[in-house]
Amino acid sequence: MNILGLSFYYHDSSAALVQDGRLVAAAEEERFSRAKHDSGFPQLAIDFVCKTGGITLHDVDYVVFYEKPFVKFERMLLSAMATFPRSSAVFRESMQRWVTDKLWIKSMMAKKLRVPSSKLLFCDHHMSHAASSFFTSPFSEAAILTVDGAGEWSTATMSVGRENKIEVIKELRFPHSLGLLYSAFTAYCGFEINEGEYKLMGMHPYGKPTMVDKIYELIQVGEDGSLWHDMKYFAYHYSRNSTLTDAFGEHFGRPARDPKQGDKSLDPFYCDMAASIQRVTEEILLKMTGYLHRETGMKRLCMAGGVALNSVANYKILRNGPFDELYIHPAPGDDGGSVGAAYWAYNHLLDQPRGPALDHAYLGSSYSDEEIETFLKRNDIAFEKIEDDEEFFDFVARSLADGYVAGWFRGRFEWGPRALGSRSIIADPRKEEMKEKLNAKIKFREAFRPFAPSVLEERADEFFDFPDPQHHFPGRFMLYVTPVREDKRAVLPAITHEDGSGRLQTVYKETNPAYHRMIERFGEITGVPVVMNTSFNLKGEPIVEDPSHAFNTFSLSGMDFLFMNNYVVRAEAKKKIAETRFTLRHEGDSVTAMVS
Ligand SMILES: [Fe+2]
Repeated sequence: MNILGLSFYYHDSSAALVQDGRLVAAAEEERFSRAKHDSGFPQLAIDFVCKTGGITLHDVDYVVFYEKPFVKFERMLLSAMATFPRSSAVFRESMQRWVTDKLWIKSMMAKKLRVPSSKLLFCDHHMSHAASSFFTSPFSEAAILTVDGAGEWSTATMSVGRENKIEVIKELRFPHSLGLLYSAFTAYCGFEINEGEYKLMGMHPYGKPTMVDKIYELIQVGEDGSLWHDMKYFAYHYSRNSTLTDAFGEHFGRPARDPKQGDKSLDPFYCDMAASIQRVTEEILLKMTGYLHRETGMKRLCMAGGVALNSVANYKILRNGPFDELYIHPAPGDDGGSVGAAYWAYNHLLDQPRGPALDHAYLGSSYSDEEIETFLKRNDIAFEKIEDDEEFFDFVARSLADGYVAGWFRGRFEWGPRALGSRSIIADPRKEEMKEKLNAKIKFREAFRPFAPSVLEERADEFFDFPDPQHHFPGRFMLYVTPVREDKRAVLPAITHEDGSGRLQTVYKETNPAYHRMIERFGEITGVPVVMNTSFNLKGEPIVEDPSHAFNTFSLSGMDFLFMNNYVVRAEAKKKIAETRFTLRHEGDSVTAMVS
């Protein structure tokens, strides 16, 4: 049975294909369209997942959309009415978008995909989040927590998953929302919503949580973690341009920071704000998980929703919360809704048995030696190939140990926002100057943002406070920020953040043998089986998908080597070439993707 899951028209559109309970492919549209956070119809991602599954749209049994447009429209309409006339501008604008596009998703999907409307299903937004996590987890039963900005009405849900069913036991409803609270502080500190939350999290160790009490004056929090916002401080329910009112700035004694300043400076006031909202977020999540544990008696917890990308809070839940084990989907944000929607239909609705657990995120496209060599020759790019794997991994490891920075392009690209050793920029974490080099010459981004370490799973505990890594699934998806062991902080200065923490990725031999062996070789040479790993892209661009994107990113940055499979490209070969753009060709009613 073939189930196609789709998420689009908000941000990070994506497609996923579940075949007989197995997730065979999943990808965000932005990787192919090259438009960051692409929210359009994910035609290119659909073509990719179908091609990977060896099917055409004709073979799809059901297409499942990740939310219910009419219910979401009802929420927008009622919220606008409740706040009229303040909401009149946003009301006019969103009415236009909803009436022209969003409400007619069903007929639009039927037409674009040429499938009968009887094959189209709609899953609740938070059920998509819950299903993305539980049905891909290794747990036969677990409590499930989903927390985001807002779905239709829900902003958080608590559920119980047993085998192939999920039962929702509690929900928090719009406009009261932990995700929107965090986003409000993201905007207040001068960062862009849906993009700057990572930056706010990265900034928090530079401040002190001095404003926790003042934040609690804006909200009320129940013992179950339920929230009530005093809406006089917030504007997101009636404005498209601002999330805060002037009263918010007055309450804290300073206005919202100019977004142009947010990226650049570590103003102590906003650093303290970042530390304070991080603390409040963790406290609320611990209340939610505490309640969920008391209510369900479950030992295991699955999480999804955009707030589950807060890897600092995730580790606190693991360490200080009541659950023994956690699972978090590698794409816990709305991109992951496509996977959840497909699994919800397959398991919960159609009553099919559970498929295998998702123990890796390598669900994107890959390129063969032949394709890479053809690309290099066609573009007249000088290269060498090291045929022997051992020799090649030794060459990479020695290059890193010598202080060079490299692009590493190999295997299927990663599902979700993190680079996990398929489309990564890698460097030596023992060299403090690497942080500066990567931020200034390669990623062109804020100096305070930390870099992540990839560590061999079997040796993670030596370097990080992360005992029994094999029991902690989210580590493989880079979803925990853990303390670096005190005696190792001086050994790993380039990946140790201000507060002595690191956002580690545990690398498994079984799921990424090449990346594992390269890091192991680096460890044999240096004594440290850890490399710095950052996503293979320039600031503001999607992560590279094909060799042309990789080569141009390499050429435009200060990287020293580009490794694609076992091919080696040196810095002398840098130049600008035409990048692959995937475009759509319309022939009558049919649409196919083609490379231009
Ligand atoms: Fe969501």
